[in-house]
Amino acid sequence: MINKKIKKILIKKNKKKIVCLTAYSKSIATILDKYVDIILVGDSMASVLYGQKNTHRISMDNIIQHTLSVKKGTSKCLLVADMPKDSYKNKKQAEKNAKIILKKTGCDAVKLESNTKNYEILETLVKKNIPVMGHIGYTPQFNKKFKIHGQTTSETAKLLKEAKLIEKKGAFSIVLECLSPTSAKVITNQLKIPTIGIGSSVNCDGQILVTDDMLGISGFYPKFVKKFANLNRVIEKAVKKYTREVKLKKFPKINNFLYGTKFRK
Ligand code: KIV
Repeated sequence: MINKKIKKILIKKNKKKIVCLTAYSKSIATILDKYVDIILVGDSMASVLYGQKNTHRISMDNIIQHTLSVKKGTSKCLLVADMPKDSYKNKKQAEKNAKIILKKTGCDAVKLESNTKNYEILETLVKKNIPVMGHIGYTPQFNKKFKIHGQTTSETAKLLKEAKLIEKKGAFSIVLECLSPTSAKVITNQLKIPTIGIGSSVNCDGQILVTDDMLGISGFYPKFVKKFANLNRVIEKAVKKYTREVKLKKFPKINNFLYGTKFRK
């Protein structure tokens, strides 16, 4: 039986754009939940939160703890958790770990990055009623090089074949990362499931960005990232003000003091 939240995503294909962002904490998820269709607890947390150079060392525990936090701020939108790189090396391990993620966090689905060898793993999960989102093009768990995929007719054909296989194996949607506009268009037009683009042009059914990138706090801004805010500046200004007030003994004042005063609402 298809989860109601997934149904809501599927019916948007060819009708309305699907809006997706990443989150790793309850506070951010609470804001996103009001506006977006899908929140992804991405393994991009590796670089964004943990300062790691790639996503390879993110653990099951990292994903579970952050998804639990995000779940607390999520009610309306579909919550998807990334499967860590080494958590789905074979069918048995993938099934066990996907079930742990769903059970421990209460998320709705998992995402796994496709390489040419793991289509059967995806199929195994779907057969066990685990909703799966696919991910092709630039897949940081398996590709080192950050480049545009599908720049020639033969590359586009290869990507289309891959996307169709992922659809056939039962994924409910698929992330297209760093695809040429032509490839994104061909795949989006030929698939029945929604495509979610990142760095893949407007020719997709929906879009996703890493929230910290679009807010301007991650320090990593590839060309496809539009900074919708510059929170770095806002945070720096607040920290400077705090520093000055502490040094000048302007903070805390009596009303910033718990003892002998009422709690603020
Ligand atoms: O890990 C992540 O945040 C992702 C998105 C960029 C699609 O996979």
